[in-house]
Amino acid sequence: MMEIKGTTKITGVFGYPVKHSLSPVFQNSAFEYLGLDYVYIPFEVKPEDLKIATKSIKIFNMVGVNVTIPHKKEIIKYIDQLDEASEILEVVNTILNIEGKLKGYTTDGDGFLKSLKEEGNFDPKNKNIFILGAGGTSYAICGALIKGKVNYIFISNRTYENALKLKKHLNKRLNFKNVEIIPFEKRNEISIWKNIDILINTTSVGMKKNDPLLIERENIEKVKFVYDIVYNRKTELLKVAEEFKIQHLDGLSMLIYQGAISFEIWTRKKAPIEIMKKSLYDKIKKDG
Ligand code: ATR
Repeated sequence: MMEIKGTTKITGVFGYPVKHSLSPVFQNSAFEYLGLDYVYIPFEVKPEDLKIATKSIKIFNMVGVNVTIPHKKEIIKYIDQLDEASEILEVVNTILNIEGKLKGYTTDGDGFLKSLKEEGNFDPKNKNIFILGAGGTSYAICGALIKGKVNYIFISNRTYENALKLKKHLNKRLNFKNVEIIPFEKRNEISIWKNIDILINTTSVGMKKNDPLLIERENIEKVKFVYDIVYNRKTELLKVAEEFKIQHLDGLSMLIYQGAISFEIWTRKKAPIEIMKKSLYDKIKKDG
């Protein structure tokens, strides 16, 4: 157990709810492992209190915080500057307090990319992507993949208009034209599957036990890599990937890597990824 002292530097997460957050587990083990005088605390912040909570980062002279659901967009109003990804995506998941000025970052996309390259040992350069979903996570992941120089992105989303918004965003803001929308009803029928390298699920489908498999087995079989951002259970999608011996990663990997980038922003030290991973897996095993 770490010792909290007068000098201890405070980090944490603002969320609502925040009780189930796994970040305190691996952030605190990382601090402890490196002997850093830091602590990571969950803060349950109601939406109506977000402004004053954000101000308290300065008042309490905290190092910074993570920001999670439902505050990722709203908090932008209350901070002083944004990094490039946050500005483009209009979301913030990490704040750094730089001598009383709050700077916002978004580490989800970079965390995704880094996990794919380092843990998955897979370089998305020149690859074709099929992505399910067009919510905030999909924006972050598409942005990172474009940074990673992918060839083509196919987007399929339950609500067509949301896919269209994402496509326009990638066309205009990121100047990336190789984007095509696959109507959700047609996702399994199209002939592109033989050309898809990476299949990514960014939807919440798979979190619940009886959730359907959105992509048919014979299509999954054709891809080279499967990434499912769901992390609370082994999804049907991941089970199929495993069965076909397709390389795959789950949301825990993205969770660790996005957290590792936040850790590095706050401490300027290299995050001990393996320690973070181990503490997280131990915790999950313990809780069943
Ligand atoms: P996040 O910011 O974590 O990505 P979000 O913005 O709520 O979360 O996005 C959730 C994504 O999952 C959306 O693409 C959503 O599709 P819609 O745009 O149609 O809402 C998708 N999604 C959620 N439940 C789904 C379901 N049962 N079937 C298919 N897609 C689903």
